[in-house]
Amino acid sequence: MAGTVNITHTAGRAMDPPRHIAIIMDGNGRWAQKRGLPRTAGHKAGAETFRRIATYCKNIGVQYLTVYAFSTENWKRSEGEVSAIMGLLKRYLLEAVDTMEKDHIRLHFFGDMTPISPELRALAHETDEISAHLPEGDFQANVCLNYGGRDEILRAVRQFAADCAAGEKQPEDLDDAMFSGYLDSRGIPDPELIIRPSGELRLSNFLLWQCAYSELYFTDVLWPDFDEAELDRAIAAYQGRDRRFGGVKK
Ligand code: IPE
Ligand code: IPE
Ligand code: MG
Repeated sequence: MAGTVNITHTAGRAMDPPRHIAIIMDGNGRWAQKRGLPRTAGHKAGAETFRRIATYCKNIGVQYLTVYAFSTENWKRSEGEVSAIMGLLKRYLLEAVDTMEKDHIRLHFFGDMTPISPELRALAHETDEISAHLPEGDFQANVCLNYGGRDEILRAVRQFAADCAAGEKQPEDLDDAMFSGYLDSRGIPDPELIIRPSGELRLSNFLLWQCAYSELYFTDVLWPDFDEAELDRAIAAYQGRDRRFGGVKK
């Protein structure tokens, strides 16, 4: 539901599988380098891992999977690498248009789509339309494309300021729930678990608002090697965490 916020959870041990898992799909380049392959081969392998992990999440009853596919900073890479990543996304979307309805997979994008090619944007629009016809309880994959946590917050602030200037909102009415409603993730609960493979111990501008009380899980496995067993390990670690949300242990 739009405008809901999720930091007032009940404290305690989380035994259910997370409702929302977010993954920073990192390590594609190093995976390829280790094999003497071009970085683009790593992205291709990483795209396969995404398909596999999305299917697995759906099968084990996770409702939302949010993946970091391309950041607002990734434009610093070579043109060849950027276009290879966009090409893989296009291929995934073309496939999704044909299969998401029968597989009951909803697709959604986080990020500023304005600098994305019209072709990819049109495909994203098409998958949005298909998603809108699928039941809300169906599994949903959120793909972060030209996404940055700071950019998402800035876009939200700009829109809120514009709504205030138009007299539709009052600054003093702004609270967590209202602000969440301006983000790309509006209506989606915050991720209980954020996973980063590849050994890097940082968030790299991922879900900066939404991560407030997420459990973080880091592994050295490179994204193309990440599999169902790895996800099980991450979920088991999450289930062993004591989530207090600022309260005290009972
Ligand atoms: C993640 O893998 C994919 C993107 C950032 C687009 P990388 O390409 O960052 O792989 P490494 O970190 O160089 O190994
Ligand atoms: C984060 O990985 C972005 C994605 C996985 C899409 P990066 O490889 O871009 O992050 P840094 O540069 O290691 O922080
Ligand atoms: Mg990287």
